Amino acid sequence: MLQNSIHIWITDIEKIDDPYMLDVYRSILSPDEIQRCERLVKEQGRASFLIAHAMVRSVLSNYVEIAPKDLQFKSNANGKPKVFCEQGRPLPLEYNLSHSGRYAVMVVTNEIDCGIDVEKIDSGRDYIEIAENTFSVAEMIDLQSVGEEEQAKRFYTYWTLKEAYIKAKSETIASSLNKISFDLHHQNQISVKLDNSGDEYKNWQFHTQLLDQEYILALALQHNSPFDIKIELFETIPMQVFG
Ligand SMILES: CC(C)(COP(=O)(O)OP(=O)(O)OC[C@H]1O[C@@H](n2cnc3c(N)ncnc32)[C@H](O)[C@@H]1OP(=O)(O)O)[C@@H](O)C(=O)NCCC(=O)NCCS
Repeated sequence: MLQNSIHIWITDIEKIDDPYMLDVYRSILSPDEIQRCERLVKEQGRASFLIAHAMVRSVLSNYVEIAPKDLQFKSNANGKPKVFCEQGRPLPLEYNLSHSGRYAVMVVTNEIDCGIDVEKIDSGRDYIEIAENTFSVAEMIDLQSVGEEEQAKRFYTYWTLKEAYIKAKSETIASSLNKISFDLHHQNQISVKLDNSGDEYKNWQFHTQLLDQEYILALALQHNSPFDIKIELFETIPMQVFG
C-alpha cells in the first residue's frame, strides 16, 4: 500500500457532530487516552483530541488489519509515539499526528521518519515578534520582503515546516529554532540547513499546502531515495461505515 508513496489523512472535525460517532470514538480509545482527553479544559480541545486519536486508530487499523481498539502506542524518550500490535511488537509503519482547530491530519509511511504539522493562519497574532525569536536571519529577511497580506501565510509556512521537521527528528523542545533555516526558493524545492554549520541537511523532503484559506499543513520526510516520494492525500471520517 505504501511502496513508493506516503499517505496524508485529513479529517475535518467540523463535519463530525453526530453524538453516536463520538461514543464510537470513546469506545476505541485506551483508558489512558480517555484520561488525557478528559484532562483538557476546553470542550473544543476534548473533541479535537477524541476525533484525532480515533482517526489514528481507524486509519492505522486499515494498514495492518488489526482492530482499532487493539492497537497499542508507546512514545520514545522525547514523546514521539509509535504503533505496536496487541502483543507489543512494533508494526512496520511510522506515523505522525497534528491537530489544530477544525483539522486533524496524520501522515503514514513505510518506516520513513516523518513529521506533520497543521496550523490556523492567524493574522491577528504578533507573528513578527515571534519570528524575531525563532526564525533564522534568512527566514526573517524573506518574511519582511513580502507584502503585508502575504506575511501571515509566509510566517505560518516557516512555522509549520519547523514543527514538522522537529517532529520528524523526534525532538521536543527546539532550543535553537533560529538555527534551523528553511529556504522556500531553492531550485523550486524547499530545503533546510543548519545556520551554524552551513551544512545542508541531505535526504529531506518537505511539502506544504493550504487545506483551505485559513489552514496550512507542512510535512517533513527523511529518506534515502534520490527521487521525491509521492505524496497522496485522503479525506477521512474515522470509523465511518459506508452503504
Ligand atoms: C511536540 C510538539 C512538536 C507538538 O506540536 P503541537 O503543535 O503542540 O501539537 P500537534 O497537534 O502538531 O502534535 C501533537 C501530536 O504530535 C505527536 N507528538 C508528541 N510529541 C512528539 C514528538 N516529540 N515528536 C513527534 N511527534 C510528537 C503526538 O501524536 C501528539 O498528539 P497528542 O498530543 O494528541 O497525543 C511541540 O509541542 C513542541 O515541542 N514544539 C517545540 C518547537 C517549537 O517551539 N516550535 C515553534 C515553531 S517555530
